[in-house]
Amino acid sequence: MFDLTNLPGDFHENPWPHYADLRENHPVCAQPDGSFILSRHADLDVIYRDTETFISDKRAVFGPKYGVGSPLYEHHTTSLVFNDAPLHTRVRKVMVGAMNPRALAAMEPGLVTLVDDLMDAMAGKDEVELIEDFAGAIPIEVIGNLLGIPRDRRAPLRDWSLAILGALEPQLTDAQMAEGNQAVSDFMAYLRDIIEDRRAHPGDAATDVLTRLIQSGDETGEGLSEIELYQNCIFILNAGHETTTNLIGNALTLLDQHRDKRADLLADPKLITTAVDEFLRLESPNQFGNRLTTRDVEFHGVIIPKGRDIHLSMAAANRDPRVFENPDDLQLDRRPNKHLAFAGGAHTCVGLTLARMEGRIAVERFIARFPDYSLTPGAIRGGRIRFRGYAKLPASLKLS
Ligand code: HEM
Repeated sequence: MFDLTNLPGDFHENPWPHYADLRENHPVCAQPDGSFILSRHADLDVIYRDTETFISDKRAVFGPKYGVGSPLYEHHTTSLVFNDAPLHTRVRKVMVGAMNPRALAAMEPGLVTLVDDLMDAMAGKDEVELIEDFAGAIPIEVIGNLLGIPRDRRAPLRDWSLAILGALEPQLTDAQMAEGNQAVSDFMAYLRDIIEDRRAHPGDAATDVLTRLIQSGDETGEGLSEIELYQNCIFILNAGHETTTNLIGNALTLLDQHRDKRADLLADPKLITTAVDEFLRLESPNQFGNRLTTRDVEFHGVIIPKGRDIHLSMAAANRDPRVFENPDDLQLDRRPNKHLAFAGGAHTCVGLTLARMEGRIAVERFIARFPDYSLTPGAIRGGRIRFRGYAKLPASLKLS
C-alpha cells in the first residue's frame, strides 16, 4: 500500500500511476502512523468546505514533529494557513485586503520589466538554467516588492523559504530540521529592522502590504500581535515562492514536452489565461495539503477517527476522471477547470491572482521571446512530496 514515508522508487519521476491507484482503488488510504490520504476531487471539496470537522490547526501534529517552542513550531503554528478562526480570520482579512486589485494592477508593469530584464540577461547565453535564471528569480522579486524588502537584501530569502517549507515534508533528517529552525530564527532577526523602519516610515497602505499588516489593528484594535506580524510576514514571503517557481518551471517543461501546444499558444496568445490553470491542474506545484479531524467521519465506508491527520492529495484530485475529461491530457483551453491547485474553502490561496499573473506574464513572454527553446539533459527535481517542481532545469534557447 502507498506509504508517504516509504515512497516507490519512481515516485518523483512519475507519481501519476501511484496517484491514480490511490484515487481509484484506495480513496481512503490508511498510513502506518495513523493518518489517512484522501485523493478524490469530491472528497477534498467536502473537506475544504467543512472547517468545523476538518481543521487546519497543526499544534497536535507539529508538537511531536518539531518540539513545542522550537522556531519551526512557533512559525508554523502561528502562520494563518495552519490556524483556524479567530486567528486565521483576522490575518486572512488583512492579507486579502492588502492584495487588492489596485495593488496587483500597480505591480503588473514592474513584473513585465522584471521578466524582460531576466530574458535580456539570458539571451546571449548558449545554455541557461531556467530555475535560477528565470522561474526562481521572478517570485523572489515580486514578493520582495510586495513587502518592500530592499532589493540588495533579498539574496537569503530563497534558501530560507526552501528550508522552512521543506520542513513540512513527511520525513526530515536532523540536518533538515536544523536548517529549518535556523532559517526561522535568521528570518525573524532579518525582519526586525525592516519592520521597525516601516513602522517609522509607513508606505501607502493601499498598495504596501507590510504597512497594511503593521497598521492592521490601529482602528479596530483587532490587528496582529507582534509575533503574529513577524510569523505571517515570513509565511507570505514563503507561500508564493517555491509554488510560483514550480508553476513557471512546470509550465515550461510541459511546453517542451508538447511542442504542438506551444505552437498553439504562440498562434493564439489569448489562450494563456486558461493555459496557466491547465498547467496548475496537470502539474500542481503544491501536491499535498493537510487537515485534522475533530470528530469521527466516514468516507467510502471507512471511518476516520477523531483527531487524525488527513493528507489531501490535490495532485490526484486534479486528475480525477469524474471531474476532468481526459484528465492526463494538456488542454490549453480547458474550461471549466475546477482544479484544486489553490485548495478551496476558507483557506483558498490568498495569492492566487498574483500567482496567475506571474505565470501568465512569465510564460507568455518567454515563449514569444524564445519560441525555439528546448530543455537539455541534466534537469534535477526538487525531490519534495508536498511540492512538485525542479531544482535545476537546463535549457537551450534554440531548438535542439
Ligand atoms: C502557483 C503558485 C501558488 C500555489 C500553487 C499556491 C497554493 C496554495 C494552497 C494550496 C494553499 C492552501 C493551503 C491549505 O489550506 O492547505 C495556499 C494558501 C495560501 N497562499 Fe498560496 N499558492 C501560490 C502562490 C501564492 C502567492 C504568490 C502568495 C502571496 C504572495 C500566496 C499566499 C498564500 C496565503 C497567504 C495562503 C494562506 C491562506 C489561508 O490559510 O487562508 N500563495 N496557497
